[in-house]
Amino acid sequence: MQFAVSTDLELNYFVLEQEGKIFKSFYPKTFIELFGLEDINDQKDAKSRYLKSIIVKVLGPENLKEKLLCNMDEEIRKRLCLWSAKESIIDLKDSISTLFFDVIAKTLISYDPSTTTIDLMRYLKVFISSVFSFPFNFPGTAYHRSLQGRKIVMNLLKTLLSERMKSPRKESKDFLDLLVDELGKENSMLTEKSALNLIFVLLIASFVSSSQTISLATKFLSEDPKILKDLTGKPESNCGEKNYLVFGGGIRYCVGAEFSKMEMAIFLHYFVTKCKWKDVKGGNIVCSPSLEFPDGYHIQVMPKNVRVL
Ligand code: HEM
Repeated sequence: MQFAVSTDLELNYFVLEQEGKIFKSFYPKTFIELFGLEDINDQKDAKSRYLKSIIVKVLGPENLKEKLLCNMDEEIRKRLCLWSAKESIIDLKDSISTLFFDVIAKTLISYDPSTTTIDLMRYLKVFISSVFSFPFNFPGTAYHRSLQGRKIVMNLLKTLLSERMKSPRKESKDFLDLLVDELGKENSMLTEKSALNLIFVLLIASFVSSSQTISLATKFLSEDPKILKDLTGKPESNCGEKNYLVFGGGIRYCVGAEFSKMEMAIFLHYFVTKCKWKDVKGGNIVCSPSLEFPDGYHIQVMPKNVRVL
C-alpha cells in the first residue's frame, strides 16, 4: 500500500470536491464500529442523505436562528460571568467542552445534568479519550475502556428513547421527539439503532473539535498580545470558503459547520471583549492524532471591566 500526504489547499479542495467521482474516502472498520456509523463510507446513498436531512432540522439555519443562537448566547454569557466573577482557574478545553455539550445535550435530549444519575459527559470523555487506540478488546486496554464508555452512554440513550416512544411529548419537543415522530412514520428509513447512533455522534461532535479550536486560539492570543489588541479593535476579516477546509468539503462538508462557527464566534467575542485571562499552567500541545493538551490548559479568567456581560 502506498500513501501520499497533501498539505496543499488547492489539491485538498479538489480531492474533497471529487469525492465519489475520482476519489473515495473511507473510515477504518474499527472507527465505524466504535461510532456505529455503518453508512458513513457511502455518502451518496439515500439513507445517508436522509440522515443528513434530519440533522439539518436541528443544526440548520432555521433552528439556529430560532433557538440555538439565543440559547448558546445566554449560556456563554452565564458561564463567562461565573468564571470571571470568581476569578476561577479553569481548564479551558474541559470547561468549553462542558459548556457546548450542555447546550447541545439540552437541545437534543433535554438533558439536565442536575437531575440525572448518570454523568453522560464523563462517559463520552472516556469514550473519546481512547477512541484512537489499538483495537484490542480486552479488559484493561484503552480500546476496551472506550467501548465501555460507549455502552454506558448508549444504554442511557436507549432508556430515554423507549420512555419517549411509550409516552411521546406534545409540547416543548426536542430532537429526540423529532426522531420518535420519524420512527413512527410508515416506511421510515430510520431505525431505532440509527436514531441512537445519530444522537451519540452529535453529542460527541458537539464539543470535541470546537473546544480544541477555541483553546488553541486562546493559546495563540496569549502568546501574541498584539493580535489580541487588533482583534478587539478591528472587525473580523473575511475568510473564503477554501480557507475553511477544516470543515471538510464536497458531499462530506461538516453538517455542524454553521452552528460551530456561530458558537465559536459568540464565545470568542464575549471572551476577548469582556474578559481578560492569565495563563496558569499547561498549554503544551500534542497531536495523537487529534490535537490534545496533555497537561491541560489552565487559565485564570477575570472581568475586563467592573461591569461584566
Ligand atoms: C471546529 C469544529 C468542527 C470541525 C473542525 C468539524 C470538522 C468536520 C469535518 C472535517 C467533517 C468531515 C468528516 C469526513 O470527511 O468524513 C465533519 C463532519 C461532521 N460534523 Fe463536524 N466539525 C466541527 C464541529 C461540529 C459540530 C459542533 C457538530 C454537531 C454538533 C458537527 C457534526 C458533524 C457531523 C454529524 C458530521 C458528519 C457529516 C456527514 O457524514 O455527512 N461538527 N466535521
